Amino acid sequence: MNAATTAQWESVKNVLVGESPRMRQITALTQKLGKTQCPVLLLGETGTGKEVVARSIHSVRDEGPFVTIDCASLVGPLMESELFGHVKGSFTGAVGTKIGLIESANGGTAFFDEIGELPLDMQSKLLRVLQEKEFRPVGSLAHRRSDFRVIAATNRDLAREAEKGTFRSDLYYRLSVVNIRLVPLRERKDDIPLLIEHFLARHGRNYSLTAETLEAMMSYDWPGNVRELENCILHMVALNSGPLLHTLELPSMVQNHVRQQRSSLVFAAAGAGGSTMASIPPAFAPLSFTGEPSAPVPLTQLERRAIMEALNYTKGDRGVAAQMLGIGRTTLYRKIKEYQLEPAAS
Ligand SMILES: Nc1ncnc2c1ncn2[C@@H]1O[C@H](COP(=O)(O)OP(=O)(O)OP(=O)(O)O)[C@@H](O)[C@H]1O
Ligand SMILES: [Mg+2]
Repeated sequence: MNAATTAQWESVKNVLVGESPRMRQITALTQKLGKTQCPVLLLGETGTGKEVVARSIHSVRDEGPFVTIDCASLVGPLMESELFGHVKGSFTGAVGTKIGLIESANGGTAFFDEIGELPLDMQSKLLRVLQEKEFRPVGSLAHRRSDFRVIAATNRDLAREAEKGTFRSDLYYRLSVVNIRLVPLRERKDDIPLLIEHFLARHGRNYSLTAETLEAMMSYDWPGNVRELENCILHMVALNSGPLLHTLELPSMVQNHVRQQRSSLVFAAAGAGGSTMASIPPAFAPLSFTGEPSAPVPLTQLERRAIMEALNYTKGDRGVAAQMLGIGRTTLYRKIKEYQLEPAAS
């Protein structure tokens, strides 16, 4: 990626893509909150977009810096100095004076990511900064001031932790004036096509998905949420010369899921004693039925196509293909011979 496109992408880091009712609500809330100084606590699973929402709130007024404080990475003896800075000579190695993250956020927004990871002693110090807007760098006797908007994020149940006493309840109440819960992608699948479009525009302008790939992506649950979806697009674009992205080019997690879903549907249909083909939704059926009345196709032709597609899909694995088709392995071998589907000898 060249400098211009990097800069362009930097500017869309705060663009919230999504038209689902929940995303629309969040976008509207973001706009409202952006005009205030109200503390916001963002809750949600990993990859749901907590940082995008934080940046988007900040960008409404776009005043001062946006400083991310990754509380999970603040560990060890230098933690306090990272947060509050230090003065020269305050400890071995403090060769100069250092400004901490709290001071750099002055006049802007401090985004406390993974706030639940902050140790209790740092929680007390943070509470003091939020209350008094004052702090002391390590080794300094003088107080310094920093006034910033606070947005925090966590994927833990902070309310419960505050109840149990593993997170300071006074800090919890200070941070959670407004709570926004980001919904997992599996609960707002209608946003998937827009997100795909957004990430293709960024990572692979000349690529597009086959209908089958889109269906596979719609049926997958995305445990890593939007981040996993973005990585999936990156994976496919990086490995293919395009322009069409097929199901076989999906990351193995997504492919495995689709394969499992197909087999379980086939088994369920077979177990119910119904016609296997008719019971499988079009998204998973080896053949596509348009629903339009059309001239009937001979069953042998349908069967031949189903076998060809199953063999293609399983990359020639006859055992899995037989399972997917709901027939025994020997029957499949016989039919491969009968329909002359044997691979040509090289
Ligand atoms: N609604 C969205 N629109 C556009 N991009 C999004 C959206 N949600 C998430 N993303 C993208 O997905 C990736 C993960 O988002 P983000 O870092 O905000 O998630 P997170 O909730 O902070 O995750 P974690 O808890 O793991 O830190 C980022 O690249 C971000 O740009
Ligand atoms: Mg994050």
